[in-house]
Amino acid sequence: MKVLVVGNGGREHALAWKLLQSQNVEQVICTPGNGGTATMPRCQNFPLSVEDFEGIKQCALANNVSLVVVGPELPLAQGITDYLQQYKIRVFGPTKEGAQIESSKHWAKNLMQSAGIPTAAFAVFTEVDKAKAYIKTQKVPIVVKADGLAAGKGVTVAATVEEAQAAIDSLFDNGFSTVVIEEFLTGQEVSVLAITDGLTIRALLPAADHKRIGEGDTGENTGGMGAYAPVPIVTTELMARLEIEILQPTLEALQQRGIDYRGVLYAGLMINSVGDPIVLEFNCRFGDPETQAILPLLESPLEQLLLACSDQQLEQLPAITWKPGAAACVVAASKGYPGAYEKGKVISGIEQAETLGASVFQAGTQFKQQQLLTDGGRVLGVTATDESLQKAVAEAYKAINCIQFEGIYYRTDIGHRLI
Ligand code: AMP
Ligand code: GLY
Repeated sequence: MKVLVVGNGGREHALAWKLLQSQNVEQVICTPGNGGTATMPRCQNFPLSVEDFEGIKQCALANNVSLVVVGPELPLAQGITDYLQQYKIRVFGPTKEGAQIESSKHWAKNLMQSAGIPTAAFAVFTEVDKAKAYIKTQKVPIVVKADGLAAGKGVTVAATVEEAQAAIDSLFDNGFSTVVIEEFLTGQEVSVLAITDGLTIRALLPAADHKRIGEGDTGENTGGMGAYAPVPIVTTELMARLEIEILQPTLEALQQRGIDYRGVLYAGLMINSVGDPIVLEFNCRFGDPETQAILPLLESPLEQLLLACSDQQLEQLPAITWKPGAAACVVAASKGYPGAYEKGKVISGIEQAETLGASVFQAGTQFKQQQLLTDGGRVLGVTATDESLQKAVAEAYKAINCIQFEGIYYRTDIGHRLI
């Protein structure tokens, strides 16, 4: 079979890489893909924007693909699944209505509240003055969230009233019409991704990412500077609780709203000091870079899982199986990221890194005139697997040390919370 993967990040490179490990998958097409997917055997890029639904439809039909796997949230929130389904194309990813679980914080909060899912206390405002007045009545730190997709820039954890008010002003100035203001929670953050066909839901290995640019989880938020899986704090008992208290009730709440949700349900969780899980957010897609840590440990054929979700046959599949051990992914970024950075720097050393046994998942890269060049803020991620997380981290660093481009930056403390 052929599979089309929509997107151009490290997550999509990892999806394509994992799909191609199965003998059933003869080819993967990426729209638009990156330098990694351009150069992987049996993988081909088509330069189509993720918002070009018509182009993606034509590409899927012309190549007779068996499945379209949608990586990023933007096309899902814009209804790519609804669009492709009209043409009888199989899609892994929720419809526009289902994607609201990520694209509208307000909608997601209401769903959680009605289903009794543990989440931070919150209030919703559509007027700047009322939102700012409310802040004065609350404790700080406090969290201000945009009610809409904001490419990772919609959340401010404000240490002071002034900072929270400035965040509110900035969101309304930037065109958002609704803000969610939320109680500040403390604990350890984990990402629990599950796949569902709308009827059955199955969790993947728990993962955690490092969102901040700086060592010790300091500095600005980014798309993610590294990740690891599994996460020791998520014990078998806690995972069982998560399934009963969070994943299953969320799926039921979606069903009650008449939503046929087929794709990833990603719960961003805070595990508090007594070990209770609280939902910070839901995403409607695979996490990046969590996927680059999870998929190298997956033993079950990925295409079978994704097809079963889109065909509503997940229950018929055997339990998902995993390799023993752990995986760590370290992301290399361009100097300046998440602010301004330069592109077009020559990348070398990927083969050496892979010779050491690591997998290099490219993100902001392009393959041009026989050269691999940087083309984005997060350039690539290096994942290593080993029997322990400590060893996987050490292996990932050994491998990333082989890679060079002008201005390369990566954190040296991925997994530090555990080591
Ligand atoms: P979100 O997009 O809602 O997950 O928020 C992005 C990041 O902001 C999360 O990964 C957390 O690090 C932080 N965050 C969000 N909500 C809260 C909260 N209620 N308390 C503390 N930190 C939060
Ligand atoms: N790693 C965070 C996300 O994918 O949203």
